[in-house]
Amino acid sequence: MTAPLVVGNWKMYGTQSECRDLALGIARGLGRNGRHTEVALAPPSTALETVKAAIAETQIHLAAQNCHWEDQGAFTGEVSPVMLKDLGCEFVILGHSERRHILNESDDVVAKKVQGALRNGLRPILCVGETLAERQKGRATAVITRQLRIALKGLGKNAIDKLEIAYEPVWAIGTGHNATVEQIARVHERIRQFLKVLFGNRKGNVIRILYGGSVKPENAAPILRTPGVNGLLVGGASLKAESFLPVVNCLD
Ligand code: PGA
Repeated sequence: MTAPLVVGNWKMYGTQSECRDLALGIARGLGRNGRHTEVALAPPSTALETVKAAIAETQIHLAAQNCHWEDQGAFTGEVSPVMLKDLGCEFVILGHSERRHILNESDDVVAKKVQGALRNGLRPILCVGETLAERQKGRATAVITRQLRIALKGLGKNAIDKLEIAYEPVWAIGTGHNATVEQIARVHERIRQFLKVLFGNRKGNVIRILYGGSVKPENAAPILRTPGVNGLLVGGASLKAESFLPVVNCLD
């Protein structure tokens, strides 16, 4: 397995100067030394260029929070994967629960976006996760495997090492209530089994599976040490260098 990946998802927060300062603060805090943990920052699309400049001399990766599935076209207000690639993005978060639940993105739309990103050399960070009601009905695994099955349908085995999966239980996002390490371990193991069924044992084993949902400095180390967890997707705690850096460095 490659190095763990920690992604800061800044959501719809930050003016140009706020994003620049945050990126510089994180870059300074991480230093230039070769690190074991990979780091990616996903600012709002308006600040991608600014953050790109701020992290230019570092090993930090640039990530977008979303993209359209087409390369170009009459889609007012949308940003295409070609444009993101052109801007210097390496990763794109897709299928985030806020997009699924607030902006009504369906599994089929997420699948088209995954294909659009891969076609353009962007690495999708594909988010999956169940709501509280789905978990309480015992449907967590069914929901997550459905999301994966549709999003990954038709992808060749070569695509699989170009994407990351993020397990983000909807009830843990922005609530301060992270899933327990037992819950996380169980779901990650199921995702891993499913990936092996889809892509075979060898390929299914190399994909990183990140956990996201109320990750903060106090819980980052036990979560990242949980078997089957290969990284973290961090929202609120990534908005300040003082809380993001200890998350990135939690295993040091
Ligand atoms: P949170 O968000 O860390 O604020 O819970 C995580 C996410 O939405 O990716």
